[in-house]
Amino acid sequence: MIPKLKSGVISNPEHKGSNGRSCEIIAITSGKGGVGKTTVSVNLAIDLQQMNKKVLVVDADLHLGNVDLILGIRTTRTIADVVKKNISLKDVIIHTNAKIDILPASSASLDLIESELSVLHKLAHAFNDFNHNYDYIIIDTGAGIAMTVLSFLLGADKIGVIITPDPASITDAYAVIKVVKSVNKNIPVFLTSNMVNHSDEGDILYKKMNLMVHKFLDSFILFGGSIIRDEMIARSVKKQRPFILDHPNSSAANSIRALNRRILQSSRLNTFGNKNLFERVIENKKIPLGWNL
Ligand SMILES: Nc1ncnc2c1ncn2[C@@H]1O[C@H](COP(=O)(O)OP(=O)(O)O)[C@@H](O)[C@H]1O
Ligand SMILES: [Mg+2]
Repeated sequence: MIPKLKSGVISNPEHKGSNGRSCEIIAITSGKGGVGKTTVSVNLAIDLQQMNKKVLVVDADLHLGNVDLILGIRTTRTIADVVKKNISLKDVIIHTNAKIDILPASSASLDLIESELSVLHKLAHAFNDFNHNYDYIIIDTGAGIAMTVLSFLLGADKIGVIITPDPASITDAYAVIKVVKSVNKNIPVFLTSNMVNHSDEGDILYKKMNLMVHKFLDSFILFGGSIIRDEMIARSVKKQRPFILDHPNSSAANSIRALNRRILQSSRLNTFGNKNLFERVIENKKIPLGWNL
């Protein structure tokens, strides 16, 4: 039950989603840039919205944040303004025509997160003061194993790793999975093979990666499916219209829905309970990551 305050404002301190369950955090990442993280994050978010879920996408790609470009929106404020100018989170979040919300980060804000714990505390408070009822938060992270990326990954309930058939994207993705699994072996990691020519190619990439994870990390990863290379996707990005809206019957849209089903069906660990995104990042600051890298 969500308590009602005297003023009529709904208080939602536990950040229950619109379905009354606590908000689930899904991080989308990769070893290498340009593999389709933002494309997957935005289309996944829209698919969840089409299932009547309330979704926030956090654009946390340090250098190439471009969620706004894919949706054709203009961002003026970022979470740096919450920290530096005391602007409330609700005034930074953008409501889009696609009915998903966007929280833009910026290199400046992510640098702050990395360097100062007080910044994280401020953001954690801002999140608690902000009575959201998101069912899902999708974080579009940067590529690789920078500390900010890892803090978000290790604070997520589930992680989606995107690879392509390019060998560099595979070795770099393994490096990310290695760090994540050495800190938390049980966190569900879904591997999605993007820009493949046939779905079989994606299956093989997954099987190879899972074998390595099994052999060297004594763990396993889950298959998020394959997304075929399709010029329609690049055109959708240029048109600033997510393909799941304009091409709902395409193979790529089916792949996004399949990935979503797999993620939703997987059980979630209760590592962080109802802690919000930034409270989780604060927790992770206590983990000595140096020896894993
Ligand atoms: N399956 C695909 N087929 C064709 N082009 C794709 C596919 N997935 C992504 N792209 C294109 O690749 C580029 C990089 O995608 P993006 O989502 O921005 O990657 P990232 O966020 O990992 O840097 C974009 O121009 C996008 O349109
Ligand atoms: Mg991106």
